[in-house]
Amino acid sequence: MSCDFAVRTVGLSKRFGDLWAVRDLDLEISMGSVYGFLGPNGSGKTTTMRMLTTLTKPTSGSAEIMGVDIQDRERVIGKIGYLPEQPPLFEELSGLEQLSYVSKLYGLSSDVAGERIEYYLRKLDMVDAAGRKIEGYSKGMRQKIGIIQAVIHKPEVVFLDEPTSGLDPKSARTVKDLISELSGSSETTVFLSTHILSVVDELSDKVGVLKNGDLVTEGAPEDLKKKVESGESRSLEEVFLSVTADHKEESKGR
Ligand SMILES: Nc1ncnc2c1ncn2[C@@H]1O[C@H](COP(=O)(O)OP(=O)(O)OP(=O)(O)O)[C@@H](O)[C@H]1O
Ligand SMILES: [Mg+2]
Repeated sequence: MSCDFAVRTVGLSKRFGDLWAVRDLDLEISMGSVYGFLGPNGSGKTTTMRMLTTLTKPTSGSAEIMGVDIQDRERVIGKIGYLPEQPPLFEELSGLEQLSYVSKLYGLSSDVAGERIEYYLRKLDMVDAAGRKIEGYSKGMRQKIGIIQAVIHKPEVVFLDEPTSGLDPKSARTVKDLISELSGSSETTVFLSTHILSVVDELSDKVGVLKNGDLVTEGAPEDLKKKVESGESRSLEEVFLSVTADHKEESKGR
C-alpha cells in the first residue's frame, strides 16, 4: 500500500455474531481532505471508526492510517485524534483540567497546551464553563470538550463521530469552521460521520454512504447529486434517501 492516502482500507469487515456490521469496505481517502460518512442508524459508521482508531479488531481485511497498518496500534494512535459518540471524560475534573491532562498525555509542553486550550475554549465559547467540574456539564459542553481533546495535539488524521451532535446552531457553525480550518491547512485529514446532510455537503471533498455495512455509493457531493437518475440537480438528502431506500429484492439474508 502506498502512503498517498491518509486512510486506506481493503476488504475491511467486522462481524458481531451473525451480523456483518461492516462488510468488505474499500476506502481511499486523500491526505488533507474531508471524508463524510453517511448512513442510517446501525449501518456501521461507528464500527468502521472504531476499527480505524484501533479500538476494535476487524474480523477480516486491512487498513492503513498514513501508511501505517492499524495492527501497529501504538504508531497509529500517535497519528490520530478521535471524537467518539460519547467522549471519554473524567467527571471529577474541570474541563480545563481534562484538557491539560490529555495534552500532557500527548506530550505537549505546558506552553503549547495552554495556548491551544485557550484558543479552542474561546472559539467554542467554553471559557466561563472551563473551571467547572465536568459532572455538571450539559451534553453540548461535553461534546465541545470532546472535540477539543480530539484535535488539541494536531493529529494527522482526525475521526469525528457526529461532531455537531448536541450542539446549538452557533456552536455547530463554529465546529464546521474548525473542521474547514483543520483540512484547509492540508496538514489534517478529517473523517467524519453525521446524520446532518448539510454538514457533509458543505465540508466534504468525498462522501461515502453505508447501508447495512456495505458502501452503497461514494463520490464528491456534487457528483452524487448528479448521479441520481431523472435529470435535474438533486439535493444530497434525495440522494441519501434514494441509495439507502429498502428494496425487497436487495435482501442479503440479514
Ligand atoms: N459491540 C457490539 N456487539 C454487537 N453488535 C454491535 C456492536 N457494535 C455495533 N454492533 C452492531 O453493528 C451494527 C452497526 O453499528 P454502528 O454503531 O457501527 O452503526 P452506526 O452507523 O454508527 O449507527 P448510528 O447512526 O446509530 O450511530 C448495528 O447493527 C449494531 O447493533
Ligand atoms: Mg454511530
